[in-house]
Amino acid sequence: MDLKHIDDGTVLKIFTYPSQVLKRVATPVENFDEELKELARNMLKTMYEAPGIGLAAPQVGISKRIFVMDIDFNRKEKTGIDAKIEYELVDRNPKILINPVIKKKKGQFKYEEGCLSLPGIYEEVARAQKITVEYQDLGGDKHELQAEDLLAVCIQHESDHLDGVVFIERLSMLKKNLFHKKLIKRKKLYEQA
Ligand code: NI
Repeated sequence: MDLKHIDDGTVLKIFTYPSQVLKRVATPVENFDEELKELARNMLKTMYEAPGIGLAAPQVGISKRIFVMDIDFNRKEKTGIDAKIEYELVDRNPKILINPVIKKKKGQFKYEEGCLSLPGIYEEVARAQKITVEYQDLGGDKHELQAEDLLAVCIQHESDHLDGVVFIERLSMLKKNLFHKKLIKRKKLYEQA
């Protein structure tokens, strides 16, 4: 997708855990139409604005099997109007995966993951180090991609979203319990405020 087009996109609302839409198994994309292109563009815009390296459709409230990602971009500081610090995105390399299926998994790789639907939470998750994924592009054409390390982690994390799974569910039972205690505490603080 043309990068200029992405900048014209709309920033969508990001649903946070424990929204119901994040727990649903998303349905396959069947229509490779203008509406799908619009969704992909808006998802990329939303991801770059956040900023994040991946975003799945359920995170913007749409239960369809599509996600976007970019593990290559950087934020470059620039001085804007009134000497205000602004950021510009450089080295962008957007990817759009539709109806992805992970065919092969090899090895193990641990990475401290975060998620736009779980703001402020970062935990180390063990996933496969090398994967092969089959997916369709915006035109419906099939592709195969081999990925490792961070790219493989990102694809596995986003594919999980399409199956109604958030990364904290990949943690050990002990870490999961600690996380839930933290979440309850935070909720109580909000209620008191
Ligand atoms: Ni996520």
